[in-house]
Amino acid sequence: MKTIDELLAEGVAGKRVFVRADLNVPLSGTTITDDGRIRAVQPTVAKLAEAGARVVVASHLGRPKGAPDPAFSLAPAAARLGELLGADVAFATDTVGESAKATVAALTDGQVAVIENLRFNAGETSKDDAERGAFADRLAELADVYVGDGFGAVHRKHASVFDLPARLPHAAGYLIATEVGVLKKLTSDVKRPYAVVLGGAKVSDKLAVIDHLLERADRILIGGGMAYTFLKAQGHEVGSSLLQEDQIPVVLEYLERAKAKGVEFVLPVDVVVSAGFPDLKAKEPTHPETVPADAIPAGRMGLDNGPETNKLYASKLADAATVFWNGPMGVFEHPDYADGTRAVAQALLDSPAFTVVGGGDSAAAVRILGFDENKFGHISTGGGASLEYLEGKTLPGLAALEN
Ligand code: 3PG
Repeated sequence: MKTIDELLAEGVAGKRVFVRADLNVPLSGTTITDDGRIRAVQPTVAKLAEAGARVVVASHLGRPKGAPDPAFSLAPAAARLGELLGADVAFATDTVGESAKATVAALTDGQVAVIENLRFNAGETSKDDAERGAFADRLAELADVYVGDGFGAVHRKHASVFDLPARLPHAAGYLIATEVGVLKKLTSDVKRPYAVVLGGAKVSDKLAVIDHLLERADRILIGGGMAYTFLKAQGHEVGSSLLQEDQIPVVLEYLERAKAKGVEFVLPVDVVVSAGFPDLKAKEPTHPETVPADAIPAGRMGLDNGPETNKLYASKLADAATVFWNGPMGVFEHPDYADGTRAVAQALLDSPAFTVVGGGDSAAAVRILGFDENKFGHISTGGGASLEYLEGKTLPGLAALEN
């Protein structure tokens, strides 16, 4: 994989460099609630601009349906990138249309532009190679060189991630180099004990990674919505908690396999429940109650790990040498259900282990709950991407940069 430093050494002054970033940041209206992904790509953009490149930054945001939708505009992210760079950043209101062409043509050496959300064009995410290729052809007209730095999207076989690098000389940006370097440490010479904390809503999203980790990790700690399918599989009633009944057989098989392999599988011993999913906007008191995990009353919904679980999980992380954490332990966006996620974040900080926070919601949670992100070993910008990397899958966006 060619590095950006090699590219810079060859000289980029006057060249149009297309940077595929992941500026898919959480928004409340047009306000960015966590700008971590924009900050993460800033060094690559800044370095290229300093070297005199004409930088064209592109990304997706959310999941618009292949047509322009103002709710998913990248304009706020472009403005934030400009603030971080301390420079004017031009913004094209389309992806490959008149605005993009004119905006790129008007760039002078060292200037930066952001083009509108790539997913406003159906070709970006199309499953049809020809349709994706046609969009990639049009994107290729905007640039002379491609830099892949959208780590959060490298698991997507999308036009700007997979097809475009095949059409232009290409290199990996600083963010991708860092992310891959860290994840390699978790897959090759991992220091033991290796503990993994997995949370988030759906167990089905995590099955492949659990399957893979059963061969590698020493301890797997489960929290969040997915824990209730495990608890149910163990024969406990889970009230109205999130449950994926169809996954129970596979979950049982994992619990058996963990036992056979000597992998410690840790489930909540108590949980915080309420009458239903809280209204996140109202942030009103919701009368949470802590109950044993094997005695969730009918009609109550588990929304967070309880205090005994928090202590137990902290003890399981305290002597680990490596910790990977993906997925919140509860509905951390509501103050009544943030303690489980906060406790895991704190346990990671207190542990001498090499700690990796795997992207998406857990990375945002760490920042939103006020932790200093610099104190963690590494906070990945890619949730799905880091999980698929750990599953051992070939990631299209990395494979494209290798070729
Ligand atoms: C993410 O948020 O994980 C990345 O930006 C990828 O987004 P996607 O899941 O919509 O492809």
